[in-house]
Amino acid sequence: MQHLLDTTDLSDKQIIQIVEDAKRFKHQRPPHLLRDKLLITLFFENSTRTRSSFEVAAKRLGATVVHLDPSRSSTNKGETLEDTFANLCAMEPDGVIIRHWENDTPQLLADKKMTSVINAGAGNYAHPTQALLDLFTMQEHFGDLKGKTIAIVGDILSSRVASSGIRLFTRMGMNVILVAPKPFMPYSDLPQYESLEEVLDKVNVIMSLRAQLERHASPIFDDYQEYAKHYCITKERLQHREILILHPGPVMRNIDISDEILNDPRCKVLPQVNNGVYIRMAVLKLLLLDS
Ligand code: CP
Repeated sequence: MQHLLDTTDLSDKQIIQIVEDAKRFKHQRPPHLLRDKLLITLFFENSTRTRSSFEVAAKRLGATVVHLDPSRSSTNKGETLEDTFANLCAMEPDGVIIRHWENDTPQLLADKKMTSVINAGAGNYAHPTQALLDLFTMQEHFGDLKGKTIAIVGDILSSRVASSGIRLFTRMGMNVILVAPKPFMPYSDLPQYESLEEVLDKVNVIMSLRAQLERHASPIFDDYQEYAKHYCITKERLQHREILILHPGPVMRNIDISDEILNDPRCKVLPQVNNGVYIRMAVLKLLLLDS
């Protein structure tokens, strides 16, 4: 039984296999490799992309997917998360795909060894399939990523996308630099900048993150417009530089990225979502069929 709690659970060979399978699935629809498999999705936080992408991926491979909505489940009657999980496992799923606000919830459930646990985003610590789809999107554009530089811009401290991305991209030989106001900056040995302008001539990729001002106790900007003045990815800032723009979504238009850049071919926000389905197909194949 293999879990996916973060990309650190994967060997280099498995990461290469996931990306190769995703590439293959993108160009040729696969047969229903998972036709006998049952997956349960359990999302304790909101999701547009990850939940639907996992469901589409599973269904494209012929698996059956059941969704339990925690807001309408017996957790609302006082049942513990562990008991909810154990009851779902009694129905013999081949995997449970979970999103939770606590960093260690996927690990806690994986330790029970009842079914394969797939982390669909936990706390501010890990979002492994997002990191893999970002890797795939960058590799599609650049080929080898060794020596390429990515700036992660925005609320890095609150971001599980940034945490998983930093671990995976540095492992793949990329240079990662962090751009954020001090209160959004995590403790890190990576190069840190407060000014976006300072890094524009150093980077091949910018990953913009949603400004999560609501997560910070003491406001550091009067409002989102004030934040945007410093960190919004605009045409005026980018000019004609060949920089790939990524964002995990949801994008706050004209705060994280301007309308104009969202329509610019350098911006890969929707290709990221498209690639996410193929990456999740490849992850499900690896965990449920190959492991
Ligand atoms: N990228 C991402 O995790 O988006 P959702 O929160 O919509 O799933």
